[in-house]
Amino acid sequence: MLIKNLTKSILICTTILMSTIYSNNANAQDGKTLFNTYCAACHKMDKDLTGPALMGVEERWGNDRAKLVHWVKNSADLIATGDKYANEIFNKWNKLPMTPFESILKDAEINAVLDYIKDWKPPVAATTGTTGAAPAPKNTGFLWFLSIVSVVLVVISLTLYFSMCRLKKTANEKLTTNDRF
Ligand code: HEC
Repeated sequence: MLIKNLTKSILICTTILMSTIYSNNANAQDGKTLFNTYCAACHKMDKDLTGPALMGVEERWGNDRAKLVHWVKNSADLIATGDKYANEIFNKWNKLPMTPFESILKDAEINAVLDYIKDWKPPVAATTGTTGAAPAPKNTGFLWFLSIVSVVLVVISLTLYFSMCRLKKTANEKLTTNDRF
């Protein structure tokens, strides 16, 4: 009985942990979906396509999120303000206009996409001799921690469950042997 209750509570804890993991990821997930829907036709993260590779774009823009949002909403409008970088990138890409997204995406959605771009890391981390492997970002580290804890909890509950079955079986066998006497 005790073991059964313990197993139950561990399973409940695991479920709660797993749902925390997924709800934490919801926003990043939205950004990814939006990127794939609206931007991936012209942009890749690590390779130039119709438009430039977007990895590290936030730094290239001097971490100016407001300006980036302005660009995605209407790049022609930002170019017309005479912004130096916007004009540079426009000229570099042979004045190919980027689709304005002001009537397609809400500010929050543009920010979710830009967050996704900002947090994007190449699948295989480049190992640079001098700086060494970059430490995993905090959030990812925490998610990893939660995932590992969940796996451990599942293993513990399975072990408990099987030992419970074994105990039950032994008890039953004992009973039947005793009955014979
Ligand atoms: C029709 C193709 C097209 C689509 C779709 C598109 N872009 Fe672009 N994008 C471009 C081009 C081309 C440039 C280069 C600048 C120019 O010529 O206007 C660019 C430039 C950019 C830049 C500046 C890059 C740098 O290196 O500074 C950002 C940021 C950007 N796009 C974000 C986005 C986002 C976010 C989306 C999706 C919501 C998107 N783009 C969808 C074509 C596109």
